[in-house]
Amino acid sequence: MRCSVNGKPLAGSFRMQDDPPLPSFAAIVVAAGQGLRAGQPLPKQFATWRGKPVLRHSVDALLASGAEPVVIAIPTGAEELARAALKGLDGFMLVEGGDTRQQSVARALAAIDSAERVLIHDAARPDLPRQVIERLLTALDGHAGAIPVLPVVDSLSIDTDGMMSGSAPREQLRRVQTPQAFRFSAIRDAHQAWQGEPTAGDDAQVLRAAGERVAHVPGDERLAKLTFAEDFMAVLPPVRTGMGFDVHRLVAGEELWLGGIRIEYEKGLAGHSDADVALHAVVDALLGAIGAGDIGSHFPPSDPQWKGASSDRFLIQAGRLVDTAGYFTGNIDLTIVCEAPKIGPHRDAMRARIAELLGVDIGAISVKATTTERLGFTGRGEGIAAQAVATVLRK
Ligand code: CTP
Ligand code: MG
Repeated sequence: MRCSVNGKPLAGSFRMQDDPPLPSFAAIVVAAGQGLRAGQPLPKQFATWRGKPVLRHSVDALLASGAEPVVIAIPTGAEELARAALKGLDGFMLVEGGDTRQQSVARALAAIDSAERVLIHDAARPDLPRQVIERLLTALDGHAGAIPVLPVVDSLSIDTDGMMSGSAPREQLRRVQTPQAFRFSAIRDAHQAWQGEPTAGDDAQVLRAAGERVAHVPGDERLAKLTFAEDFMAVLPPVRTGMGFDVHRLVAGEELWLGGIRIEYEKGLAGHSDADVALHAVVDALLGAIGAGDIGSHFPPSDPQWKGASSDRFLIQAGRLVDTAGYFTGNIDLTIVCEAPKIGPHRDAMRARIAELLGVDIGAISVKATTTERLGFTGRGEGIAAQAVATVLRK
């Protein structure tokens, strides 16, 4: 983004440097529905999706493409919600929508004094690529209307009372999206003249009813409409990584548990549980990978049930949480930092134990060790540190 020249902010445009200039256009965003099917705590257009209100996404995109004005149809009484969703933005105007989408569009059109071109868009389609706007405005050069469409890839069946009563020619059919682009006067007149059902599915139908031609341009899957609750569920990344780090003190008179096994040594690690610093680092790495807090939040040291507890239990529970989150452990890479005891002879036993506790193959578990060249607390043998990285994969 070109935001500054020689360190001085550029006034105005936030266009990408290579974006071609667009012809001037007005925009309407219809956001006056009830958004009932989405089952969100707020009407869906004001609910949060990918970090900001649904409505704000497309308004941002339209303003960034130079739309002027941007007229937004909102439900009666929703002005405060809408202003909160659009806080900090300039260049938009709110109007009260109607009982149907078609009425909401007609009211928004009436609020525009004059314009040559207008894009009419559903707020419920937040992800609006600039390329679609470009394609639409280009197609509008020769036509009164242009709409983004996608092919139908599945074969089609006509349903009558749960039975197939026929099929439809998928080759000729298209899925229609918004924004839809129009010559302003043509669509304004078409809406005024509209005699059909007030439930017109979209504005292209209204324009065609007025005898105008509507061109198809390629749509974009990103423009999918948010309709149901599942459309609001976060898309989890297929691979996630977490890291964990832990330190415990070495003291005389304690057993040494490390990497899930008992090691003969003159000292042991002190802590509330068995103080297996290596397993604790692995637990934190797994919890980190699924964004589930840390070991202290799941097994608080203040809770007596964890006193002297085997850290096996923590790791088994971390594995369960990974599973519940929809993932499985891909691999673990654990590094134990100490001067003594020597880890090498125990490495494979630790790998096998961790693999067993997590229910994965031993090949997925790596255990490494290093000293700190006698430096620091590990170098002086005052404690042992461990760090781990975990990768989890979506099931
Ligand atoms: N819309 C509108 N005015 C209406 C009805 C719908 O402005 N009277 C808008 C919606 O806000 C939405 C778009 O038209 O941005 C497409 O409608 P739809 O996806 O059906 O949204 P809702 O009607 O809000 O949702 P639902 O049908 O689930 O209640
Ligand atoms: Mg609806």
